[in-house]
Amino acid sequence: MNYCIANWKMNKTISESINFLEEFKKKDLQNIKSKIILCPSFTSLKILETHVTGTKIELGAQNVHQNKRGAYTGEISVGMLKEIECEWVILGHSERRQYFLEEDVIINDKMNTVIENDLKPILCIGENESQRNKNETFNILESQLTTALSNINLSSNMLIAYEPVWAIGTGLSASFDQIHEVVNWISQFLLQEFSLKVPILYGGSVSAVNCESIISLESVSGFLIGTSALDVNEFSRICSIVNER
Ligand code: 13P
Repeated sequence: MNYCIANWKMNKTISESINFLEEFKKKDLQNIKSKIILCPSFTSLKILETHVTGTKIELGAQNVHQNKRGAYTGEISVGMLKEIECEWVILGHSERRQYFLEEDVIINDKMNTVIENDLKPILCIGENESQRNKNETFNILESQLTTALSNINLSSNMLIAYEPVWAIGTGLSASFDQIHEVVNWISQFLLQEFSLKVPILYGGSVSAVNCESIISLESVSGFLIGTSALDVNEFSRICSIVNER
């Protein structure tokens, strides 16, 4: 099974989200074998539920709080997501790490809460440019994974997204060889340290032009897509290319 996941980040109002989805449903994706998951803003999440009914499209949130309820102004709980039938949650995105100071221990708490409450995490990991230049990529990934996954009742109902920070939103995707090397390393590491075999996705400047070669890698099970998922034509082109794999 391959995955095409749209991370809309802080883009699209409710009406823009509905327009996208209604246009997307007109595309010829009837015999879709891969899983398509849209992660809109919280304000659009509830209304999109009615628009995906009867389709194979699933919905995800871009974040959730680690506590189940309480005095956490501005936050959203797992219970709130479950009530609107949101199944997936992106955790550990590099923008949350960078701008909201989310550390691996917080991501670990969130992973725990999400899994305990039967939601499915999409855990993002990845090194930044200076870490790659200093040959620290595997140390960084090891520490992100070790902390985020520690003391958790791990389930195979989760996804890992390898998103090198330097490739996000830059138009410069990681190369075929770089992705191959890192994704293979991640799958070995998960198997050795956690006896875990889960789909591993790639994210970072994925487009309709570069997705075909990346998805040809046996170890890559799909994409977490930002910019290219904002445009319905581009996103549906990527979905149909992935579908042909
Ligand atoms: P871009 O596709 O815009 O590089 O963003 C990737 C991303 O951050 C998905 O979570």
